[in-house]
Amino acid sequence: MSEAERLISGPTLRKLISLVKKHTGIFMEERKRELLVARIRPRMKELGLASAEEYIDHLENHKDEIQKFINCVTTNETVFFRTPSIWDFFGRDLLKAWSQKNPDEIMRIWSAAASTGEESASIAILCEEFKRANPRFRYRVYASDIDTDVLEGARKGTYKERSMDDLRKRSPEIFHRYFKGRDSADMHLHPAILNNIEYFVHNLHSRGTRTAFFDAVFLRNVLIYFNEQDQELVLKNMYASLKPEGVLIIGEAESLARLKTSFEYTKPLIYKRVA
Ligand SMILES: C[S@@+](CC[C@H](N)C(=O)[O-])C[C@H]1O[C@@H](n2cnc3c(N)ncnc32)[C@H](O)[C@@H]1O
Repeated sequence: MSEAERLISGPTLRKLISLVKKHTGIFMEERKRELLVARIRPRMKELGLASAEEYIDHLENHKDEIQKFINCVTTNETVFFRTPSIWDFFGRDLLKAWSQKNPDEIMRIWSAAASTGEESASIAILCEEFKRANPRFRYRVYASDIDTDVLEGARKGTYKERSMDDLRKRSPEIFHRYFKGRDSADMHLHPAILNNIEYFVHNLHSRGTRTAFFDAVFLRNVLIYFNEQDQELVLKNMYASLKPEGVLIIGEAESLARLKTSFEYTKPLIYKRVA
């Protein structure tokens, strides 16, 4: 019997999985037992609780534990400019086409599962690059996540050391143009860009208050955590948030092909909202 099996019995595992689903919409299979144990054990230790049953009891009786539980169970893997093809499309094609059509408007772009903020920073950096050649261009980036911990660093414009090193190596010019700091430990996104990004906590399973508001939504590497029914619900919410001609960008392991949605395929990972 593994340590995870000793810590969580079958019924307890199923209860935990149902709590993950209830609070995040994330669908976990029973074979994820080890992962789930690794995620909640540090929190149990902090609370001085010896068993998963005691933790469930604590969770169900302390409302303020719910957010902590959510923060434990989410997977936040991200990097700057993840999947180069979509960034070529965004920075080269979409910004140009959009600004020609809407010369006097502000482009609004949502990073809807922003994690530690690398994606929203990548969006803002490409908007700034576009602005250098097109000074009239105006934009605002919106970045949200269900996990409150990850948004903390993002709000300050600070990112994982690994992300920064990777960007510095891959695109030194971009790195030096958009990051500042006294030394490598102090490196952060330039405040002028950070001011163009608004961060907020949001669960993709709820509708949100902004209707027909966004010109583009990045919904990347998050649909994979939901079952098909919930993917359709989340996409319905995205549909409502996008403007009529709005663009949806998904992750490399995701597809809308088998789902019932009102999005039209444009090219790999890129979809358009249809009326
Ligand atoms: C793997 S990261 C993807 C980050 C980024 N979009 C990327 O592609 O690099 C997935 C993020 O989705 C968030 N997430 C999971 N369930 C969510 C939900 N129901 N609502 C909003 N965000 C959620 C997690 O907290 C996590 O930060």
